[in-house]
Order: sequence, then C-alpha cells, then structure tokens
Amino acid sequence: MARRTKIYEGKAKILYEGPEPGTIVQYFKDDATAFNAEKKDVIEGKGVLNNLLSEYFMKGLNQIGVPTHFMKRLNMREQLVRQVEIVPLEVIVRNYAAGTMSKRLGIEEGTQLPRPIVEYCYKDDKLGDPLVTEEHIAAFGWASQQDMEDILSLALRVNDFISGVMFGVGIKLVDFKIEIGRIYDGDFQRLIVADEISPDSCRLWDIETGQKLDKDVFRRDLGSLTDAYTEVAKRLGVMPKTSTPITKPTLIN
Ligand code: C5P
Repeated sequence: MARRTKIYEGKAKILYEGPEPGTIVQYFKDDATAFNAEKKDVIEGKGVLNNLLSEYFMKGLNQIGVPTHFMKRLNMREQLVRQVEIVPLEVIVRNYAAGTMSKRLGIEEGTQLPRPIVEYCYKDDKLGDPLVTEEHIAAFGWASQQDMEDILSLALRVNDFISGVMFGVGIKLVDFKIEIGRIYDGDFQRLIVADEISPDSCRLWDIETGQKLDKDVFRRDLGSLTDAYTEVAKRLGVMPKTSTPITKPTLIN
C-alpha cells in the first residue's frame, strides 16, 4: 500500500494529496483546541461528527448554487475537496452578540444584532488571528476590492442558508466563521467556500432552552462536546447509519 503525502496538519484536520491533481483529502481529527491551542483535548468521535456535519452544510450550499470546495465524502473521517489557495482571512458573520464581540463592545451575549455583521480576522496563529479592517486587507493585498465584494456575498448567502436550516431544527445560528479559497480556471479566478462548517466553527444555541450545542461547550467546560454535536447531527438527520459506535463504549467494571 502506498503511503499518502501529507500536505498540512492543522489543529483539527490533516490534508493529504488527493487522487487527482487539484484535489485534496481532508481528514477530520478528534483533537479539540481553544484559545489559540492553549486548551487542548482529544474528544473521541468529534472528527466523525464534524466530517458528517460539514458534508451536510457544504453539500446543501453547493445545491443552492453557493460554490464550495466539497466534492464527496470518502469515509467516516475523510472527504475529497478541491484544492484551493486559502485567502488569509477568517470571515465571521454574527447574528447575535457573543464571544469576542460581546467582550470587545460590552454587548450582552445573546443580544440580537440589528443586521448580520461581518468581521474579518487575519489568519495568523502567532498573532492570535487579529481583527482587521478592509483597509488593512486592501493595503496589504490579502484580497482585492472585487474579492471583498464576492466574499461578503458568499458570507451572507452562507448565513441565510445555515440560519434557515438550523432554525428548522430548533437551533439559532448565533455566529460562524468560514474560510474562502481561490481557484484558478485559465485566466479567471473564482472564490469558493473552503475549510469546514461545523459546530467547531459556529455558535449554535437551542431556541427553546438556550443550551449551547457548539465548541463553547469545550471552551467553557459546559459538559460533553460529543453529546452536543451528536444532538445537532441527530436533529439534522445526519447520524451515521452504521452500527459502529462513534465513540468506544464506556467500560464498566
Ligand atoms: O471567538 P469569536 O466570538 O470571535 O468567534 C466568532 C465565531 O467564529 C464563533 O462561532 C467561533 O467558533 C468562530 N471562530 C472559529 N475559529 C476561529 C475564531 C472564531 O471558528 N479561529
């Protein structure tokens, strides 16, 4: 059996060279990190759930004409995606105040925002992904004016889609982060949604109870992350149909 070529290993995923030029295999790890990897753990089954959930969201986006890197899921932990050049920005869309926005502006968590607010952070772990303005983005050449128009439109379309889907299963999309990839087609380039969309990169609150069903459960020690992600997967009907448990059964002495 030939060894695969690892292209990159991040905090939650590994990228391998894909079977065809221009493709990549994205492997979802069980590792959970928060606060720029100051807090770390391995949460058994998280990779499987994020693989299935990201597939669900990306496939849905592709179907409504929002282009993403997703091609197909290969197995419980891997998906085949298009190779892209990642724009060095984290694109955050917020519908309700939470997290760093609440801290920065002193707005109580859960306050509904007058309209979706889009923020950009410069992707650099060493700097802690600092918030930047469109002035920085243009001046340092991270994206052009046209790119920024396309990125804003993609981000708002993703927001509309995921908000609607989650609302349908009784969950509020508080905020989320996406990454954008550049693909080249001859003389043309196009921007598409890349990376992943999962409870690792969204804030999801139960509409009735306010229960957090996202990575804040890990960040803030609020209980079992696997249970929270499993709840999201169950409501969306994307739980694996195999009899193999996602996590090993607990051993009882
Ligand atoms: O921490 P903050 O409030 O800025 O996060 C906003 C949203 O972006 C949250 O849903 C969070 O999970 C996501 N995010 C992320 N990766 C980061 C920073 C934020 O997925 N590096």
